[in-house]
Amino acid sequence: MSDLEAQVLAKTWFYPYPLPSGRQAPTYDGGVLDLIHHTRTQMMQAALNQEFGADAGTRAELSAVDLACHQGWFSVQLAQSGFGRVLAVDARPEHVADTRLIARTLGLDAIDAEQSDIHALDTAALGQHDLVLCLGLIYHLENPVGALRIARALCRRLCLVETQIVPGQTGWVDYGSYRFVRPLKGSFGIIDETGETHGPEASTTGICLVPSLEALLWIMQRVGFSRVEVLPVPEDGYEQLVHHKRVMVAGWVD
Ligand SMILES: C[S@@+](CC[C@H](N)C(=O)[O-])C[C@H]1O[C@@H](n2cnc3c(N)ncnc32)[C@H](O)[C@@H]1O
Repeated sequence: MSDLEAQVLAKTWFYPYPLPSGRQAPTYDGGVLDLIHHTRTQMMQAALNQEFGADAGTRAELSAVDLACHQGWFSVQLAQSGFGRVLAVDARPEHVADTRLIARTLGLDAIDAEQSDIHALDTAALGQHDLVLCLGLIYHLENPVGALRIARALCRRLCLVETQIVPGQTGWVDYGSYRFVRPLKGSFGIIDETGETHGPEASTTGICLVPSLEALLWIMQRVGFSRVEVLPVPEDGYEQLVHHKRVMVAGWVD
């Protein structure tokens, strides 16, 4: 076992990383959450195979950005599936350090990790990427629309947004007057995470706006994705995805 792997094994992880020696990184939920990671990985890989082809050998020219990478699980999947460059970004410096550690342990030179709040990213400096991941993030934000604008600005081909959603309202609103009636395009639920901002998966500000599905699809189109689609969920997948409490949506830039 390498020194790096010993460092990985000495702590607990959000993700069940298989390690070079055959061991697995210990997870802090005791495996309860493994299925959500596996289902999302499966859904992401299916979308990538469709968009970029299933042959990892043809992906070396592709670059990706993983927004809110946490400890780098999806960045690792991308690097292992052939992406030539992966930039992993998270607001929490400890996650950035863990992403660097796991990338080195697994020998994945394609991964770079950087600490930043999503809203502070300099999109002009970062340029555009074939794939942008925005998984498990926007329902922790007080400015989800701004985050989706950032995701769009960084994207030249495909963006995957995975999020918790809330039941939505639709219908018509007297907007200032009964003479000016507007259709509701969806709605947001407000969730209080102000007591949990210390949590490794949580919001950094505590005020969370969770979109309805209609809101998410409409906003993704408005910020510039030319086509958006809800991705299919495997029947034996994680319950929240199977039961439409969470979705993974693909947005294309054509
Ligand atoms: C539920 S976890 C999801 C992690 C990973 N993307 C996944 O899907 O497994 C939420 C992540 O968002 C990060 N995060 C929260 N607010 C953020 C912000 N404003 N900018 C960047 N990252 C943020 C957290 O540190 C955490 O790693």
